[in-house]
Amino acid sequence: MRILSGIQPSGALHIGNYFGMMQPAIALQSEGEALYFIADYHALTSLRDPEALRTNSRRVALDFLACGLDPERATLFRHSDVPQVTELAWILSTVAPMGLLERATSYKDKLARGLAATVGLFNYPVLMAADILIYDSDVVPVGKDQKQHIEITRDLAVKMNETFGPIFKLPEARIRAATETVPGIDGQKMSKSYDNNIDIFGDEKEMRKRVMSIVTDSTAVEAPKDPANSTIFRLYSLLASKDEIAAMRERFLKGDTGYADFKRQLFEKLREYFAPTRKRREEILKDKSYIDDVLARGAKRANEIADHVMDRVRRAVGLR
Ligand code: ADP
Ligand code: TRP
Repeated sequence: MRILSGIQPSGALHIGNYFGMMQPAIALQSEGEALYFIADYHALTSLRDPEALRTNSRRVALDFLACGLDPERATLFRHSDVPQVTELAWILSTVAPMGLLERATSYKDKLARGLAATVGLFNYPVLMAADILIYDSDVVPVGKDQKQHIEITRDLAVKMNETFGPIFKLPEARIRAATETVPGIDGQKMSKSYDNNIDIFGDEKEMRKRVMSIVTDSTAVEAPKDPANSTIFRLYSLLASKDEIAAMRERFLKGDTGYADFKRQLFEKLREYFAPTRKRREEILKDKSYIDDVLARGAKRANEIADHVMDRVRRAVGLR
């Protein structure tokens, strides 16, 4: 089984990224050949600061390694170290129906958030399909917001196979139900674009501030509270043990505890949960060449697979 996923180097890692994509991806690295990449080509659709792109890309690699990606098992690489993927994106775009891309909700969402309506942004799902198909991927661990992109990938693979004969495998999205949409401090989907994120490696004071500003209802301190509708409880449930979750639920239902107390408890849990990850991150940073070595090895392996698949594609369409 080949597992593939990517993450854009467009901002700091938050809890939604971690539970929605990174942790499931890392858990899968022992189940097959895993390939994880830093989607720097994709990031160009929204980030036009070369220094920031370079810095963010190395930081995502660092974050991935700190969170437990084992480079002896999984391949970690930069998107742009496999430029063949842009050739495949072009080939796929020649069979991609306009209507299919016009229905892509992420494009519309991004325009609504003020991003410029560029051809690159519109074509984003085609490049993403190329990312997945170029490695003969079977499984793609992502958060729920990426589901439609995987469906588009499958549609394009089918279209290519119907047009040119069997070239591509059909990949499947792997979405963990429990963490498909992690809520942000305002209760909406956590996202850096909504500025409702809690970052994992940020300053602790900022983390505390964010946790303390989680939006709650106006239930009085002494009144019982509904855990199911509480962002505090939902986030705590991602981090705590079964017994700890049960204890918090009981205190919610019993009343006499204010939301501020629950927030403090959540903050302490967050600190405790990510302490080893933060420590590992500091360790990795001490070895100046480690990240570059990992990325160089990753690029080599990713290129081997991509070259092999591209040879098949070029022959099938008549470019060889
Ligand atoms: P953001 O919305 O902050 O820009 P990205 O779009 O860069 O995050 O997402 C990177 C990965 O993290 C994707 O696989 C995405 O599905 C996942 N992800 C992001 N936010 C969440 C969330 N709130 N819940 C679950 N998964 C998420
Ligand atoms: N579109 C994904 C996101 O914004 C990142 C991504 C690019 C990706 N290519 C991919 C994810 C291929 C999985 C597989 O989060």
